[in-house]
Amino acid sequence: MKLFDVYPINPINIVKGVGSLVYDDKGQEYLDLYGGHAVISIGHTNPHYVRRLEDQLHKIGFYSNSIEIPLQTELAEKLGKVSGKDDYQLFLCNSGAEAIENALKLASFYNGKKKTIAFTGAFHGRTSLAVSVTDNPKIVAPINETDNIVRVAWNDEAALEKAFNDNKNQVSSVIIEGIQGVGGIQVASNSILQKIRSLCHTHNAVFIADGVQCGYGRTGKFYSHDFAGVNADIYTMAKGMGNGFPIGAISISPKIQPSYGMLGTTFGGNHLACAAGLAVLEVMEQDNLMQNAATVGAYLIDELKKFKQVNEVRGRGLMIGIDLPAEYAHAKKDLLFKHHIFTGEAKPNVIRLLPALNLTKAHADRFLEAFTKVLSSAPVLSNPL
Ligand SMILES: Cc1ncc(COP(=O)(O)O)c(C=O)c1O
Repeated sequence: MKLFDVYPINPINIVKGVGSLVYDDKGQEYLDLYGGHAVISIGHTNPHYVRRLEDQLHKIGFYSNSIEIPLQTELAEKLGKVSGKDDYQLFLCNSGAEAIENALKLASFYNGKKKTIAFTGAFHGRTSLAVSVTDNPKIVAPINETDNIVRVAWNDEAALEKAFNDNKNQVSSVIIEGIQGVGGIQVASNSILQKIRSLCHTHNAVFIADGVQCGYGRTGKFYSHDFAGVNADIYTMAKGMGNGFPIGAISISPKIQPSYGMLGTTFGGNHLACAAGLAVLEVMEQDNLMQNAATVGAYLIDELKKFKQVNEVRGRGLMIGIDLPAEYAHAKKDLLFKHHIFTGEAKPNVIRLLPALNLTKAHADRFLEAFTKVLSSAPVLSNPL
Protein backbone atom coordinates (compact mmCIF):
# COMPACT_ATOMS: atom_id res chain seq x y z
CA MET A 1 0.00 0.00 0.00
CA LYS A 2 1.22 3.52 -0.67
CA LEU A 3 0.22 6.80 0.94
CA PHE A 4 -2.68 8.81 -0.47
CA ASP A 5 -0.71 11.64 -2.00
CA VAL A 6 -2.41 14.84 -0.81
CA TYR A 7 0.45 16.79 0.77
CA PRO A 8 3.15 18.72 -1.12
CA ILE A 9 6.04 17.86 1.19
CA ASN A 10 9.57 19.15 1.74
CA PRO A 11 12.30 16.51 1.32
CA ILE A 12 13.30 16.70 5.00
CA ASN A 13 13.02 13.93 7.59
CA ILE A 14 12.87 15.44 11.08
CA VAL A 15 13.88 12.86 13.68
CA LYS A 16 14.49 14.90 16.83
CA GLY A 17 13.38 18.14 18.47
CA VAL A 18 14.39 20.15 21.54
CA GLY A 19 12.60 23.41 22.38
CA SER A 20 12.51 25.51 19.20
CA LEU A 21 15.15 23.43 17.43
CA VAL A 22 14.61 20.33 15.31
CA TYR A 23 17.12 17.99 13.63
CA ASP A 24 16.93 15.93 10.45
CA ASP A 25 18.23 12.39 9.88
CA LYS A 26 21.56 13.83 8.69
CA GLY A 27 22.05 15.81 11.89
CA GLN A 28 21.21 19.21 10.32
CA GLU A 29 19.75 21.64 12.87
CA TYR A 30 16.71 23.81 11.99
CA LEU A 31 15.09 26.68 13.88
CA ASP A 32 11.38 25.89 14.09
CA LEU A 33 9.28 29.05 13.76
CA TYR A 34 6.23 27.15 12.58
CA GLY A 35 5.66 24.42 15.16
CA GLY A 36 3.98 22.19 12.57
CA HIS A 37 1.04 24.58 11.97
CA ALA A 38 1.02 26.29 15.42
CA VAL A 39 0.90 22.99 17.31
CA ILE A 40 4.14 23.10 19.30
CA SER A 41 3.24 25.53 22.08
CA ILE A 42 5.73 24.69 24.86
CA GLY A 43 8.60 23.47 22.66
CA HIS A 44 9.57 20.04 21.38
CA THR A 45 10.19 17.30 23.99
CA ASN A 46 9.64 19.63 26.94
CA PRO A 47 10.93 17.55 29.91
CA HIS A 48 7.85 18.08 32.14
CA TYR A 49 5.55 17.18 29.23
CA VAL A 50 7.53 14.03 28.37
CA ARG A 51 7.60 12.91 32.00
CA ARG A 52 3.88 13.49 32.54
CA LEU A 53 2.92 11.55 29.41
CA GLU A 54 5.36 8.76 30.19
CA ASP A 55 4.07 8.45 33.78
CA GLN A 56 0.48 8.38 32.58
CA LEU A 57 1.22 5.74 29.95
CA HIS A 58 2.61 3.47 32.66
CA LYS A 59 -0.67 3.85 34.61
CA ILE A 60 -3.39 3.83 31.95
CA GLY A 61 -3.49 5.41 28.48
CA PHE A 62 -7.14 5.12 27.55
CA TYR A 63 -10.57 4.32 28.78
CA SER A 64 -13.83 5.62 27.33
CA ASN A 65 -16.26 8.25 28.60
CA SER A 66 -18.36 5.62 30.37
CA ILE A 67 -16.31 5.89 33.58
CA GLU A 68 -15.02 8.64 35.87
CA ILE A 69 -11.87 10.28 34.51
CA PRO A 70 -10.73 12.75 37.23
CA LEU A 71 -8.00 14.04 34.89
CA GLN A 72 -10.79 15.62 32.78
CA THR A 73 -12.07 17.58 35.79
CA GLU A 74 -8.52 18.61 36.65
CA LEU A 75 -7.98 19.82 33.07
CA ALA A 76 -11.31 21.69 33.03
CA GLU A 77 -10.47 23.44 36.32
CA LYS A 78 -7.01 24.45 35.17
CA LEU A 79 -8.21 25.60 31.75
CA GLY A 80 -11.00 27.63 33.36
CA LYS A 81 -8.44 29.34 35.58
CA VAL A 82 -5.75 29.99 32.95
CA SER A 83 -8.28 31.20 30.36
CA GLY A 84 -10.07 33.38 32.92
CA LYS A 85 -13.40 31.67 32.24
CA ASP A 86 -13.94 29.60 35.38
CA ASP A 87 -17.69 29.39 34.94
CA TYR A 88 -17.53 27.87 31.43
CA GLN A 89 -17.94 24.13 30.73
CA LEU A 90 -15.48 21.92 28.84
CA PHE A 91 -16.23 19.33 26.17
CA LEU A 92 -13.16 17.41 25.01
CA CYS A 93 -12.58 16.05 21.51
CA ASN A 94 -9.59 15.28 19.30
CA SER A 95 -8.97 17.99 16.69
CA GLY A 96 -9.76 21.51 15.57
CA ALA A 97 -12.32 20.49 12.96
CA GLU A 98 -14.08 18.32 15.52
CA ALA A 99 -14.22 21.26 17.93
CA ILE A 100 -15.80 23.39 15.18
CA GLU A 101 -18.36 20.66 14.29
CA ASN A 102 -19.39 20.40 17.92
CA ALA A 103 -19.57 24.18 18.40
CA LEU A 104 -21.83 24.72 15.37
CA LYS A 105 -24.00 21.75 16.26
CA LEU A 106 -24.31 22.79 19.89
CA ALA A 107 -25.32 26.31 18.86
CA SER A 108 -28.06 24.86 16.68
CA PHE A 109 -29.26 22.54 19.47
CA TYR A 110 -29.31 25.55 21.79
CA ASN A 111 -31.50 27.89 19.75
CA GLY A 112 -33.12 25.49 17.26
CA LYS A 113 -31.94 27.57 14.29
CA LYS A 114 -29.98 26.56 11.19
CA LYS A 115 -27.98 29.41 9.66
CA THR A 116 -24.43 30.41 10.46
CA ILE A 117 -22.70 33.64 9.58
CA ALA A 118 -19.05 33.16 8.56
CA PHE A 119 -16.50 35.55 7.09
CA THR A 120 -14.58 35.90 3.85
CA GLY A 121 -11.08 34.45 4.15
CA ALA A 122 -12.13 32.13 6.98
CA PHE A 123 -10.58 28.70 7.57
CA HIS A 124 -12.30 26.46 10.09
CA GLY A 125 -11.28 22.93 9.01
CA ARG A 126 -12.17 20.19 6.57
CA THR A 127 -14.98 18.10 8.05
CA SER A 128 -18.54 18.62 6.93
CA LEU A 129 -19.79 21.71 8.81
CA ALA A 130 -16.27 23.07 9.33
CA VAL A 131 -15.53 23.09 5.61
CA SER A 132 -18.88 24.66 4.79
CA VAL A 133 -18.03 27.69 6.97
CA THR A 134 -14.53 27.79 5.45
CA ASP A 135 -14.15 30.22 2.55
CA ASN A 136 -12.38 28.00 0.02
CA PRO A 137 -14.56 26.38 -2.68
CA LYS A 138 -11.64 24.13 -3.72
CA ILE A 139 -11.93 22.02 -0.56
CA VAL A 140 -15.75 21.91 -0.43
CA ALA A 141 -17.09 18.66 -1.95
CA PRO A 142 -20.59 18.66 -3.47
CA ILE A 143 -21.87 16.74 -0.44
CA ASN A 144 -20.73 19.60 1.84
CA GLU A 145 -22.69 22.27 -0.03
CA THR A 146 -25.45 23.92 2.01
CA ASP A 147 -27.64 27.02 1.93
CA ASN A 148 -27.20 27.47 5.68
CA ILE A 149 -24.04 29.59 5.45
CA VAL A 150 -24.24 33.37 5.11
CA ARG A 151 -20.89 34.81 4.04
CA VAL A 152 -20.01 38.31 5.26
CA ALA A 153 -16.99 40.44 4.25
CA TRP A 154 -14.15 40.40 6.79
CA ASN A 155 -14.44 43.07 9.50
CA ASP A 156 -17.52 44.60 7.78
CA GLU A 157 -19.93 45.63 10.53
CA ALA A 158 -22.64 46.97 8.22
CA ALA A 159 -22.64 43.72 6.21
CA LEU A 160 -22.92 41.74 9.46
CA GLU A 161 -25.93 43.75 10.57
CA LYS A 162 -27.52 43.31 7.14
CA ALA A 163 -26.93 39.54 7.27
CA PHE A 164 -28.87 39.37 10.56
CA ASN A 165 -31.69 41.51 9.13
CA ASP A 166 -31.89 39.52 5.87
CA ASN A 167 -32.13 36.25 7.81
CA LYS A 168 -34.52 37.25 10.58
CA ASN A 169 -34.94 34.58 13.28
CA GLN A 170 -32.80 32.11 11.31
CA VAL A 171 -29.24 32.87 12.46
CA SER A 172 -28.06 30.20 14.88
CA SER A 173 -24.47 31.37 15.22
CA VAL A 174 -21.65 33.62 14.07
CA ILE A 175 -18.20 32.04 13.79
CA ILE A 176 -14.98 34.05 13.61
CA GLU A 177 -11.25 33.57 14.10
CA GLY A 178 -9.69 36.23 16.35
CA ILE A 179 -6.87 36.34 13.82
CA GLN A 180 -7.31 34.57 10.50
CA GLY A 181 -4.40 32.17 10.05
CA VAL A 182 -4.78 30.47 6.67
CA GLY A 183 -6.51 33.67 5.48
CA GLY A 184 -3.22 35.58 5.74
CA ILE A 185 -2.88 36.69 9.40
CA GLN A 186 -5.75 39.16 9.39
CA VAL A 187 -6.68 40.54 12.82
CA ALA A 188 -10.39 40.81 13.66
CA SER A 189 -11.12 44.39 14.75
CA ASN A 190 -12.27 44.90 18.32
CA SER A 191 -15.36 46.62 16.98
CA ILE A 192 -16.46 43.65 14.80
CA LEU A 193 -16.10 41.31 17.80
CA GLN A 194 -18.11 43.72 19.96
CA LYS A 195 -20.74 44.01 17.22
CA ILE A 196 -21.01 40.21 16.97
CA ARG A 197 -21.50 40.10 20.75
CA SER A 198 -24.32 42.62 20.74
CA LEU A 199 -26.08 41.26 17.61
CA CYS A 200 -25.91 37.68 18.92
CA HIS A 201 -27.40 38.90 22.18
CA THR A 202 -30.25 40.74 20.41
CA HIS A 203 -31.05 37.90 17.98
CA ASN A 204 -30.53 34.93 20.35
CA ALA A 205 -27.61 33.67 18.27
CA VAL A 206 -24.45 32.00 19.56
CA PHE A 207 -21.07 33.75 19.27
CA ILE A 208 -18.45 31.11 18.37
CA ALA A 209 -14.84 32.24 18.76
CA ASP A 210 -12.54 29.97 16.75
CA GLY A 211 -9.33 29.91 18.76
CA VAL A 212 -7.90 26.76 17.15
CA GLN A 213 -4.92 28.63 15.69
CA CYS A 214 -4.95 32.08 17.33
CA GLY A 215 -5.87 30.89 20.83
CA TYR A 216 -4.15 29.12 23.69
CA GLY A 217 -1.94 32.01 24.75
CA ARG A 218 -0.27 32.59 21.37
CA THR A 219 -1.12 36.30 21.23
CA GLY A 220 -0.30 37.07 24.85
CA LYS A 221 -3.94 36.68 25.91
CA PHE A 222 -5.45 33.21 26.28
CA TYR A 223 -7.94 33.79 23.44
CA SER A 224 -7.04 36.49 20.93
CA HIS A 225 -10.75 37.42 20.93
CA ASP A 226 -10.16 38.65 24.51
CA PHE A 227 -8.55 41.84 23.16
CA ALA A 228 -12.09 43.08 22.34
CA GLY A 229 -13.15 42.85 26.00
CA VAL A 230 -16.25 40.76 25.30
CA ASN A 231 -17.02 37.09 25.95
CA ALA A 232 -17.99 34.62 23.25
CA ASP A 233 -20.51 31.86 24.01
CA ILE A 234 -18.31 29.03 22.73
CA TYR A 235 -14.51 28.96 22.23
CA THR A 236 -12.93 26.29 20.04
CA MET A 237 -9.36 25.13 20.62
CA ALA A 238 -6.93 22.39 19.55
CA LYS A 239 -3.41 22.77 18.05
CA GLY A 240 -1.32 24.18 20.96
CA MET A 241 -3.52 22.47 23.53
CA GLY A 242 -1.58 19.17 23.43
CA ASN A 243 1.82 20.31 22.07
CA GLY A 244 1.50 17.58 19.44
CA PHE A 245 -0.80 15.14 21.20
CA PRO A 246 -4.14 15.20 19.32
CA ILE A 247 -6.62 16.97 21.58
CA GLY A 248 -9.30 19.58 20.92
CA ALA A 249 -12.08 21.12 22.97
CA ILE A 250 -14.86 23.62 23.23
CA SER A 251 -15.31 25.92 26.20
CA ILE A 252 -19.03 26.56 26.65
CA SER A 253 -20.85 29.44 28.34
CA PRO A 254 -22.92 28.51 31.43
CA LYS A 255 -26.06 29.66 29.63
CA ILE A 256 -25.89 26.56 27.37
CA GLN A 257 -27.17 23.53 29.27
CA PRO A 258 -25.98 19.98 28.52
CA SER A 259 -28.11 16.86 28.25
CA TYR A 260 -27.05 13.21 28.02
CA GLY A 261 -26.15 12.16 24.50
CA MET A 262 -26.16 15.72 23.10
CA LEU A 263 -22.46 15.45 22.18
CA GLY A 264 -20.11 12.49 22.36
CA THR A 265 -16.84 10.91 21.24
CA THR A 266 -14.91 7.67 21.75
CA PHE A 267 -11.39 9.04 22.07
CA GLY A 268 -12.02 12.60 23.32
CA GLY A 269 -10.83 13.26 26.87
CA ASN A 270 -8.87 10.04 27.27
CA HIS A 271 -6.31 9.75 30.07
CA LEU A 272 -3.27 10.32 27.91
CA ALA A 273 -4.78 13.34 26.12
CA CYS A 274 -5.71 14.93 29.46
CA ALA A 275 -2.19 14.36 30.78
CA ALA A 276 -0.82 16.13 27.68
CA GLY A 277 -3.30 18.99 28.09
CA LEU A 278 -2.45 19.40 31.78
CA ALA A 279 1.30 19.31 31.12
CA VAL A 280 0.94 22.12 28.56
CA LEU A 281 -1.03 24.35 30.93
CA GLU A 282 1.37 23.63 33.81
CA VAL A 283 4.37 24.66 31.71
CA MET A 284 2.51 27.71 30.38
CA GLU A 285 1.76 28.83 33.91
CA GLN A 286 5.09 27.98 35.47
CA ASP A 287 7.21 29.56 32.73
CA ASN A 288 4.86 32.52 32.18
CA LEU A 289 4.61 31.71 28.49
CA MET A 290 1.76 34.06 27.60
CA GLN A 291 3.90 36.95 28.80
CA ASN A 292 6.85 35.64 26.80
CA ALA A 293 4.69 35.35 23.68
CA ALA A 294 3.61 38.97 24.13
CA THR A 295 7.16 40.26 24.75
CA VAL A 296 9.11 38.31 22.11
CA GLY A 297 6.22 38.74 19.65
CA ALA A 298 6.15 42.52 20.09
CA TYR A 299 9.93 42.62 19.63
CA LEU A 300 9.73 40.60 16.39
CA ILE A 301 6.86 42.68 15.02
CA ASP A 302 8.71 45.95 15.76
CA GLU A 303 11.90 44.70 14.12
CA LEU A 304 10.08 43.31 11.08
CA LYS A 305 8.33 46.64 10.53
CA LYS A 306 11.77 48.21 9.96
CA PHE A 307 12.33 46.21 6.73
CA LYS A 308 11.54 48.58 3.88
CA GLN A 309 10.99 45.67 1.46
CA VAL A 310 8.03 44.36 3.51
CA ASN A 311 4.50 45.45 2.47
CA GLU A 312 2.95 44.91 5.90
CA VAL A 313 3.52 43.08 9.17
CA ARG A 314 0.30 41.80 10.76
CA GLY A 315 -0.57 39.85 13.88
CA ARG A 316 -0.23 39.80 17.63
CA GLY A 317 2.24 38.11 19.95
CA LEU A 318 3.70 35.03 18.30
CA MET A 319 1.18 34.87 15.45
CA ILE A 320 2.82 37.00 12.82
CA GLY A 321 2.28 37.48 9.09
CA ILE A 322 4.94 39.11 6.91
CA ASP A 323 3.33 40.33 3.69
CA LEU A 324 5.97 40.50 0.96
CA PRO A 325 5.90 41.82 -2.59
CA ALA A 326 5.73 39.09 -5.28
CA GLU A 327 9.45 39.49 -6.10
CA TYR A 328 10.25 37.87 -2.75
CA ALA A 329 8.25 34.72 -3.43
CA HIS A 330 11.50 32.80 -2.88
CA ALA A 331 11.81 33.98 0.76
CA LYS A 332 10.17 31.01 2.51
CA LYS A 333 12.16 28.43 0.52
CA ASP A 334 15.41 30.36 1.05
CA LEU A 335 14.78 30.52 4.79
CA LEU A 336 14.30 26.76 4.87
CA PHE A 337 16.95 25.50 2.48
CA LYS A 338 19.66 28.15 2.85
CA HIS A 339 19.20 29.20 6.47
CA HIS A 340 17.50 26.11 7.92
CA ILE A 341 14.52 27.95 9.40
CA PHE A 342 10.98 26.56 9.23
CA THR A 343 8.28 29.16 8.61
CA GLY A 344 4.76 28.85 7.23
CA GLU A 345 2.90 30.44 4.39
CA ALA A 346 -0.54 32.00 4.12
CA LYS A 347 -1.76 33.00 0.71
CA PRO A 348 1.00 33.72 -1.79
CA ASN A 349 3.74 35.86 -0.32
CA VAL A 350 2.65 36.01 3.31
CA ILE A 351 5.17 34.31 5.59
CA ARG A 352 3.53 32.95 8.73
CA LEU A 353 5.42 32.72 12.02
CA LEU A 354 3.83 30.43 14.62
CA PRO A 355 6.69 29.39 16.90
CA ALA A 356 6.54 27.86 20.36
CA LEU A 357 5.44 30.34 23.04
CA ASN A 358 8.83 30.03 24.77
CA LEU A 359 10.75 31.28 21.74
CA THR A 360 13.81 33.15 23.01
CA LYS A 361 14.94 36.61 21.89
CA ALA A 362 18.20 34.98 20.72
CA HIS A 363 16.21 32.70 18.38
CA ALA A 364 14.17 35.69 17.20
CA ASP A 365 17.45 37.47 16.39
CA ARG A 366 18.75 34.41 14.53
CA PHE A 367 15.65 34.62 12.32
CA LEU A 368 15.97 38.40 11.80
CA GLU A 369 19.58 37.98 10.71
CA ALA A 370 18.65 35.29 8.17
CA PHE A 371 15.65 37.30 6.98
CA THR A 372 17.92 40.31 6.32
CA LYS A 373 20.11 38.11 4.10
CA VAL A 374 17.11 36.62 2.29
CA LEU A 375 15.64 40.04 1.50
CA SER A 376 18.96 41.48 0.40
CA SER A 377 19.48 38.71 -2.16
CA ALA A 378 18.42 39.98 -5.60
CA PRO A 379 14.62 39.75 -5.99
CA VAL A 380 13.33 37.63 -8.87
CA LEU A 381 11.44 40.09 -11.06
CA SER A 382 8.27 38.63 -12.53
CA ASN A 383 8.61 40.80 -15.63
CA PRO A 384 12.21 41.99 -16.09
CA LEU A 385 11.24 44.09 -19.13
C1 LIG B 1 -8.67 28.54 12.67
C2 LIG B 1 -8.72 27.07 12.46
N1 LIG B 1 -9.84 26.40 12.79
C3 LIG B 1 -9.93 25.06 12.64
C4 LIG B 1 -8.87 24.32 12.12
C5 LIG B 1 -9.00 22.84 11.95
O1 LIG B 1 -8.16 22.18 12.81
P1 LIG B 1 -7.68 20.66 12.55
O2 LIG B 1 -6.70 20.70 11.42
O3 LIG B 1 -7.09 20.22 13.85
O4 LIG B 1 -8.90 19.89 12.18
C6 LIG B 1 -7.70 24.99 11.76
C7 LIG B 1 -6.55 24.24 11.19
O5 LIG B 1 -5.63 24.78 10.65
C8 LIG B 1 -7.61 26.40 11.93
O6 LIG B 1 -6.51 27.08 11.59
